[in-house]
Amino acid sequence: MKSFTWKCLGALVVIAGFAAGNAGAQAPAAPAPKTEGKLSLSPADEAAKPAAAAPALPAGSTAAPGWNVPPKWDTVQESPQYASIPGVERNVLQQQTGEWWRTVRNGPVTFYGGIVLLVVPIFLLAFFAIKGPFKLHGEPTGRLVERYNSAERMTHWTTAISFVLLGLTGLIILFGKHVLLPWMGPAAFSWITIIGKNIHNFVGPLFIFSLIAMFVLYVKDNFFNAQDFVWLAKFGGLMSGNHVPSGRFNGGEKVWFWLGVVILGSVVAISGVIMLFPNWETVRGVMAEANLFHAVVAMIFVASSFGHMYIGTIGEEGASQGMLTGYSDETWAREHHPLWLEEVKAGKRPEKMMPASAQAAAGDD
Ligand code: HEM
Repeated sequence: MKSFTWKCLGALVVIAGFAAGNAGAQAPAAPAPKTEGKLSLSPADEAAKPAAAAPALPAGSTAAPGWNVPPKWDTVQESPQYASIPGVERNVLQQQTGEWWRTVRNGPVTFYGGIVLLVVPIFLLAFFAIKGPFKLHGEPTGRLVERYNSAERMTHWTTAISFVLLGLTGLIILFGKHVLLPWMGPAAFSWITIIGKNIHNFVGPLFIFSLIAMFVLYVKDNFFNAQDFVWLAKFGGLMSGNHVPSGRFNGGEKVWFWLGVVILGSVVAISGVIMLFPNWETVRGVMAEANLFHAVVAMIFVASSFGHMYIGTIGEEGASQGMLTGYSDETWAREHHPLWLEEVKAGKRPEKMMPASAQAAAGDD
């Protein structure tokens, strides 16, 4: 019993020693606030206290002013730590790539991309207001020539519709916080962005699939020949009104096919897939680069598609008929693609003139 009492006393001494040692290790205690006998300030006193100023944001910071000031990311400690989950970069908690990505994305990418996306449609609408649509010189004959078969049209419209969906949702993701958030508020903007992001993620693979199908179906008529360079040098004679003859597709359409569908399409597809599947052990730097490539190239793609959509809708009389119905008027074919029309008439092409009986039926619709 006596030894038990001594043990208890010893333990108390050790605990007291620890407490004293810890208190000594801490920063010297600040002088106790004068509470004039009260244990804490009343709510009225709390409210009367002068508000401390929020720390200033570093120059160039896009963070919301207030207390949530992000650290100086160029000085953060990037050294790997211990992590029990195996995998690349799982043991790196802080790194500077994200800040670099954020600065480039929210800076030049959004700024210059926004300008391009505004300037191109304004230019096209001004051009339309001044010049109007490219009209047919001759009267439509009513005789129809097959322009696109159903597989070609289905592929084209799947590509076009998915492209428009991806473009709209992508623009919401990139510009929404500047354009939508200020007037619709955070609740509506959050819903729209979440829905938009999911549409973007699910339509992306459909677009890639339709691009591949488009390449397979259209490539055979998109190889350049000498005539196409004449077309490109004179811009098809569209300004002068003297059309440069072309085959099934002219030089401009071939440029759209190779630069747009093939090159820009491949870059947005590959960078998009890298972002869709982060579980491929992709490091954060690669994800950031993929995101910037994706945004820049997608905006160039959208801006150039405005030109294609303009010609395919209001810009050229008769252009949309072939892609909508599968058939174009012979006058349109002769004025825009005479070399192709000659080949069709000579039976050298898979496309056919619509038989007179079928034309009568088509006219009855
Ligand atoms: C709503 C948007 C679009 C409209 C209104 C549209 C309209 C048209 C029209 C009317 C044609 C037929 C031109 C002719 O017969 O000479 C055409 C052809 C074509 N379109 Fe589109 N299009 C759109 C979007 C797209 C997109 C997003 C792509 C690809 C990413 C695309 C790729 C093509 C290709 C490859 C051709 C065949 C001519 C060529 O090889 O360049 N279109 N389009």
